[in-house]
Amino acid sequence: MRISSAFICAGLTFLWSARAQSSSVDAFLASESPIAKAGLLANIGPSGSKSSGAKAGVVIASPSQSNPDYLYTWTRDTSLVFGAIIDQFTLGLDTSLRGQVDNFVASQEIIQQISNPSGTISTGGLGEPKFNIDETAFTGAWGRPQRDGPALRANAMITWANFLLKQNNATYVTSTLWPTIKLDLDYVAGNWNQTTFDLWEEVSSSSFFTTAVQHRALRQGIALANRIGQTSAVAGYTAQANNLLCFLQSYWNGGSGYITANTGGGRSGKDANTVLASIHTFDAAAGCDSVTFQPCSDRALSNLLNYVNAFRSIYSINSGVANNVGTATGRYPEDSYMGGNPWYLTTLAVAEQLYDSLIVWKQQGSITITATSQPFFALFSPGIATGTISSSSSTFNSLTAAIENYADSFVAVVAKFTPSGGGLAEQYSRSNGAPVSAVDLTWSYAALLTAFGARNGVVPASWGAKGLTVPTTCSGNTGGGSGGGGTVSITFNVQATTVFGENIFLTGSIDSLTNWSPDNALALNANNYPIWSVTVNIPASTSFEYKYIRKFNGAVTWESDPNLQFTSPASGTFTINDVWR
Ligand SMILES: *[C@@H]1O[C@H](CO)[C@@H](O)[C@H](O)[C@H]1NC(C)=O
Ligand SMILES: *[C@@H]1O[C@H](CO)[C@@H](O)[C@H](O)[C@H]1NC(C)=O
Repeated sequence: MRISSAFICAGLTFLWSARAQSSSVDAFLASESPIAKAGLLANIGPSGSKSSGAKAGVVIASPSQSNPDYLYTWTRDTSLVFGAIIDQFTLGLDTSLRGQVDNFVASQEIIQQISNPSGTISTGGLGEPKFNIDETAFTGAWGRPQRDGPALRANAMITWANFLLKQNNATYVTSTLWPTIKLDLDYVAGNWNQTTFDLWEEVSSSSFFTTAVQHRALRQGIALANRIGQTSAVAGYTAQANNLLCFLQSYWNGGSGYITANTGGGRSGKDANTVLASIHTFDAAAGCDSVTFQPCSDRALSNLLNYVNAFRSIYSINSGVANNVGTATGRYPEDSYMGGNPWYLTTLAVAEQLYDSLIVWKQQGSITITATSQPFFALFSPGIATGTISSSSSTFNSLTAAIENYADSFVAVVAKFTPSGGGLAEQYSRSNGAPVSAVDLTWSYAALLTAFGARNGVVPASWGAKGLTVPTTCSGNTGGGSGGGGTVSITFNVQATTVFGENIFLTGSIDSLTNWSPDNALALNANNYPIWSVTVNIPASTSFEYKYIRKFNGAVTWESDPNLQFTSPASGTFTINDVWR
């Protein structure tokens, strides 16, 4: 990393040299990335050299068997690791990986079916976080369920499916991949609105990372379903994707400029959870969109600054480092697990978010600085003004070079604290940088490979983040219950004669029918007057009561008693035809 003294450029002071990409980081990544690739593959059965006993396609979290014992397979880690492998194969970076991907698909089909302490395949078992490496259930006490797993698995498999469709392999996609993907998407659609353990397996509440990857899964799933003609699922997924996008906004703590990672847990909320969410929902086609918290969005950059700063004073290896130079970062500042040290994968995630941002700024030919992101950009140019900087200006070049150097400086921290053999453990000591906790963490290796890819301008496939509109009011979806059965699309038709200016609404006993709230009741359309109609996604196999109401000049008139009753079917769509009473 080269840090020069301040210099003046177009009237702005830059605290960094304009040279992009540090040669010491080049050298580290050139030597480390083959080690990371080999380390990652060593942890995948059946032939990985450090994963003896793991079935084909099973990713062990780490070969460490004590203090901590990580010789298990987690759905989250596995899906993130295979997400990286699938990107490498489908983007043509490593054509040797197809057999691994086929093994992944086959093993996940088996794991989905295993009854476990979270349930069976149809009663919530997909939310089980970890399994034994021989593909049997882990039955010990654990923080379960963890609802990010099915979403991440769907994201990886859908990326694979999209690639195979381009290869004219629709038969395999429809007959083999889609049934597996659909189980996960149904689980997400049916269960997203229930509490979950977070990705660190500690806090049971709602969690930004989980919500963000669930949202991505449904959007990507909708596009795939449309592409292969599986359209019956689309309405239900669309309704829940919109609900998820709405809910996602609620984590933004605008007053403090960061994303609160969990709704529970009683912590500051500053957490690598949020940075990981941003890089794992990166969609270059969406630009710097802030509602999906894209890496270069003003919210995600402000969040990054606050997250990084949370570790400056608490790790002694960070002491004396200037505030515009990379430092060690960990999961969250209150962390005490295994000493509460910095993690390789979280420090690399910061670099990756910045590399992703650079890809987009260069692609769109501009950087926009808002009041929200100004403190981040001020790291490189104190007092920099809000506004848009075009790529034709020298400021653009200086700023992107400074940010490239800043990104590299986080990789340089990882380089400095990587032992000579190149093995990446889970953590490195907050006091001296020595590796700590589980050795050869598969996710650490995947994190190095994806950060390196982003630095080289590798752009993952788009998942549909572009141009989404956040609903004006958020709806939940609690009725789905542990059944995990997803939702069904129900059309309510009611024949009702009205006077001009009078409208018909629907409300009922479940969240998706606004819990008997006349104020929030769902508006019906009169496209086929006197039939009023609305289509609602209702949790599958759920009994509920409902009524129609009239609103006219602010006055609400309810239908006569008793309440209407219905039990939604287990799947598919359904139409109810009523007459106003
Ligand atoms: C489709 O992809 C699957 C999975 O890799 C493969 O086994 C199969 O041979 C492919 N079929 C065709 C026609 O390419
Ligand atoms: C369910 O969704 C509603 C509406 O967005 C939200 O207020 C609530 O916190 C959510 N609950 C959970 C557990 O996701």
